[in-house]
Amino acid sequence: MRTLQVELGERSYPIYIGSSLLQKIGELTLQHGVSTQSPHLIVTDDRVAPHYLHLVEKKMAEAGFKTVSHIVPAGESSKSLAMFEQVMTTAIQAKLDRSSAVFALGGGVVGDLAGFVAASYMRGVTFVQIPTTILAHDSSVGGKVAVNHPLAKNMIGAFHQPVMVLYDVDTLTSLPAREVSSGLSEMLKHGLILDEAFAYWCRDHASDLLALDSEALAYGLERGCAIKAKVVSQDEREGGLRAILNLGHTIGHAIEAVGGYGRFLHGEAISIGMAGSALLAEALGRGTNLFSTTREMLSAFQLPVVLPSDISVDELMDAMQHDKKFTKGRMVFIVPEQIGKVSIVHDVPVETVRSVVEQLKKEG
Ligand code: NAD
Ligand code: GLY
Repeated sequence: MRTLQVELGERSYPIYIGSSLLQKIGELTLQHGVSTQSPHLIVTDDRVAPHYLHLVEKKMAEAGFKTVSHIVPAGESSKSLAMFEQVMTTAIQAKLDRSSAVFALGGGVVGDLAGFVAASYMRGVTFVQIPTTILAHDSSVGGKVAVNHPLAKNMIGAFHQPVMVLYDVDTLTSLPAREVSSGLSEMLKHGLILDEAFAYWCRDHASDLLALDSEALAYGLERGCAIKAKVVSQDEREGGLRAILNLGHTIGHAIEAVGGYGRFLHGEAISIGMAGSALLAEALGRGTNLFSTTREMLSAFQLPVVLPSDISVDELMDAMQHDKKFTKGRMVFIVPEQIGKVSIVHDVPVETVRSVVEQLKKEG
């Protein structure tokens, strides 16, 4: 087991990464001071539950914990206010109290939803992340928790840090191939924003990563988590630097919203968004050859880089203007300067973004 630390003063917490870690969930939860007197809630989804819920419940019971489980339907559409209310109902019926904890067993959808429940229940209870997707090496770290509004992604949420992240990489072996690619999009993002060598390492090891080679995966996940932890430690609530983690996300979130939160996986939408950011960099005269290099890297992971022709540019532009990063006719974009280095650009004209989006439909 490897341990990385997210340094946030009194809210610091470890990320445990390794094999067979679900077996240790009970003892690690005890070590983190969670009460055996209060009931606890495990949130998961209906694709993860058949694989791992029983083991987690069993290990928790063996360590003396009482738990109740809530299983949501798999997929982005569960990140909704309606589902939030249903999970809250389970928490209230199970009589969770201020010493209770909420455990998120699953990918980013379960993590974001359960985390928002943990942040809101009695104004905040203990939260534990148990990520089971590659993408969740990103989403389980950093304390952003949220549900979607039909008009805009992640619009209703909070910052609520977990007390630990327990990342059992053995769970990744049951991931469908499309989810593997989607998760690797965020891994590559960590290289594209801050670590040129890591971005090229990802590209060069794409086939090993896609095949879930354990050595490649261990290095990639650790490096990705370490980059995320470093950024979050410096700027927990996105006063500045943390925004770089949003590379590709303004266009990507709009693609997810226009696709009805189901057509595109998060990592796929972000992939098209990162290709768009590279085009934007070139349109703003901030870099050359960025688009071709970025596209080559994303394609190595079998990720999409082109907007399907039936997606309406008008609808996409509308969705982007609901984004948290839009103010007074100008947009804030994370723009690459080179591979491994990005800038936060605060005054990108809407027309330039529109022309990039139009180009994204044509590039193939
Ligand atoms: P997800 O949670 O929907 O999981 C992907 C799919 O894989 C689901 O169908 C799930 O049931 C299934 N699955 C999960 N683990 C499995 C396993 N081990 N074996 C078999 N199937 C498994 O999606 P995701 O890609 O993990 O996360 C995407 C979400 O994360 C988006 O909502 C995105 O906005 C959010 N996100 C949040 C942050 C953050 O900082 N909070 C950062 C990045 C992304
Ligand atoms: N995914 C963006 C962030 O964690 O800040």
